[in-house]
Amino acid sequence: MRSLLNRAAHAYYVLDAPLMEDAVYDRLYRELLELEQAHPALLSDDSPTQRVGGAPAEGFVSVRHRIPLLSLDNAFSVEELEAWYSRLLKVLDRTPAAGEPLPALPMVGELKIDGNALALSYEHGVLVRAATRGDGEQGEEITANVRTIQSVPLRLQLASPPPWLEVRGEALIPDPVFAAINRERAERGEALFANPRNACAGTLRQLDPKVVAARRLDFFAYTLHLPEDWQAGTETGDPLRPGSQWQSLQWLQSAGFRVNPNAALLSDLAAVEAFCATWEERRHELDYATDGVVLKLDDLRLQDEAGFTQKAPRWAIALKYAAEEAPSRLLRLEAQVGRTGAVTPVAIFEPVPLAGTTVSRATLHNADRLVELDLHSGDTIVVRKAGEIIPEVVRVLPELRPVGAQPLQLPHTCPECGSALVREDGEAATRCVNNGCPAILRGSLRHWVSKGALDVDGLGTKLIEQLVDRGLVRSIPDLYGLDAALLASLERMGEKSAANLMVALQASKQQPWHRQLYGLGIHHVGEVTARALAQAFPGVDALREAALSDPAPITAIHGIGAEIAQSLQQWFATPANEDLIQTLRQRGFALAPAPEEQAAAAVEPAEKPLAGLTFVLTGTLPTLSRSQAQARIEAAGGKVTGSVSKKTSYVVAGAEAGSKLAKAESLGVPVLDEAELLALLA
Ligand code: IVH
Repeated sequence: MRSLLNRAAHAYYVLDAPLMEDAVYDRLYRELLELEQAHPALLSDDSPTQRVGGAPAEGFVSVRHRIPLLSLDNAFSVEELEAWYSRLLKVLDRTPAAGEPLPALPMVGELKIDGNALALSYEHGVLVRAATRGDGEQGEEITANVRTIQSVPLRLQLASPPPWLEVRGEALIPDPVFAAINRERAERGEALFANPRNACAGTLRQLDPKVVAARRLDFFAYTLHLPEDWQAGTETGDPLRPGSQWQSLQWLQSAGFRVNPNAALLSDLAAVEAFCATWEERRHELDYATDGVVLKLDDLRLQDEAGFTQKAPRWAIALKYAAEEAPSRLLRLEAQVGRTGAVTPVAIFEPVPLAGTTVSRATLHNADRLVELDLHSGDTIVVRKAGEIIPEVVRVLPELRPVGAQPLQLPHTCPECGSALVREDGEAATRCVNNGCPAILRGSLRHWVSKGALDVDGLGTKLIEQLVDRGLVRSIPDLYGLDAALLASLERMGEKSAANLMVALQASKQQPWHRQLYGLGIHHVGEVTARALAQAFPGVDALREAALSDPAPITAIHGIGAEIAQSLQQWFATPANEDLIQTLRQRGFALAPAPEEQAAAAVEPAEKPLAGLTFVLTGTLPTLSRSQAQARIEAAGGKVTGSVSKKTSYVVAGAEAGSKLAKAESLGVPVLDEAELLALLA
């Protein structure tokens, strides 16, 4: 753990090329701290916990800060924030008596800007030196570079400035500028910066200030240090010496600094928590990165009283936003069988909080991914969950692998039915091909009753499980032979819900032809394709005829290619599927358009799944051309536009996506890859 974290710190501070997400580093660092606290004998001088910051790099002159730059303690939840507040009350000797409410201490809430801290020194109002944070004691002198940042005043707007003053703040590169820099680097074939903060760090260490000037850095000031005995002359019109953090921000602003406009004076813990919640949401509106909020006790005298721990003030804390990536320990691997028989490896790991929920399982997509990741039992893995997307395992940290750990493999037999799994040449998926496999049956039933298909209300996953496990349903048509008394006798069912379900099942027979077709769950026939096929073929007989003898009328349909035609051919050639069609007919399914459907062949726009959504396409998608993707989206009722705005519903990004992707990320517009777009269309 020590050597991994040391390497990560070196990559971050010296090479400007991070090895892992900050959140992952933070969590591992915490775990190391806890281990060292629990086993002090294991503590060693080379532990990353034994230093304040990063090592200064070569190429610049190292300077000692007049006042060291401290770091901040982190809280990762509201509970940790509250614990910090209680500790603060305790050092200030203000812990309430039992039963009394917590005393309210005014706080300043600021955004935690994910940039690079700078220390600026002014003498008699003139910028004389700028330095990086370095290890907090010593940094690198980068005055020439910092002088190119427009929002850093070279001379303060004060009539009678103090003999010296020190300002701390954050240098940053706004997201659109970052995207442009990376675009240019890509054009020149140079390595890309991992994120705006690294681009900023790399820029500040440029030996040529002209390059820095071209990169348009920005700076927000947040800390002011004045000589202890200095007071503003009252006749000068200069602002008075601040007595609080809030006044310091105002002082900095009137002296000519840019101060982040989103800081707020918060009267109590409730206001603090509201501020944090608001910015966790609103952070995406900003065009620069923030990774949390910083809370600072407002009153400077109380700050003094609270003092410092070894490396951080007791009077301030950073509340970090919910991480989208975190490390966890792998417990085991499970194989999940879907309705097509495709087997997905699923990692089960120690629960971790991630993007607002606690997760303990994540998909590995397919067997190739399993090999690529080289998972071993007991591995430390990095799990990611961004927005609504299902969690996935992005990486393994092999450095933390237990001695003697065995590589993990997908089982050779289906975990549900025991039959041998097969993988056909050129296919990514490993499959169970047993038509009677209960997992496949459950999946097919779930699909049949789903919203886009037959839309049967009241037939959830748990009920399907019971029906399959008890052998009451062995195929889709069996659903239509169930009787109300039997249904009512099942777990969590009653007469009322059974009767409702009977009605819903009966009504599903009237669903339009395209939904019936989609419900069959033919490989590659998603909602959009089913609609197109249903429009072209007036019933299952016509479709079967084409699929088995002459696929030309199928592939002639816009957006349908040989792959789909082949899948249809395979499906209709399977005897069990022919049985399925016949039994469904006996149960009352037309598998053809109803007469009134034929009349109103035009699809209602509101029925289209992507109606009202706006898409922007960028980069090269792996299989669809730009125009194919656009046609599919439009066929499903969506709109495709050329530029990203807050109104954009989704950006679909492929290889070499450029500024549109960056813009989407900065605006918080969800980004899809091709597979996700296809899933949405389906
Ligand atoms: S105050 C003693 N305020 O976060 C006070 N820091 O994790 C120390 N940061 O090194 C810093 N936004 O680079 C403060 N509004 C803000 C900040 C901020 C970003 C950074 C800063 C610091 C790091 C600590």
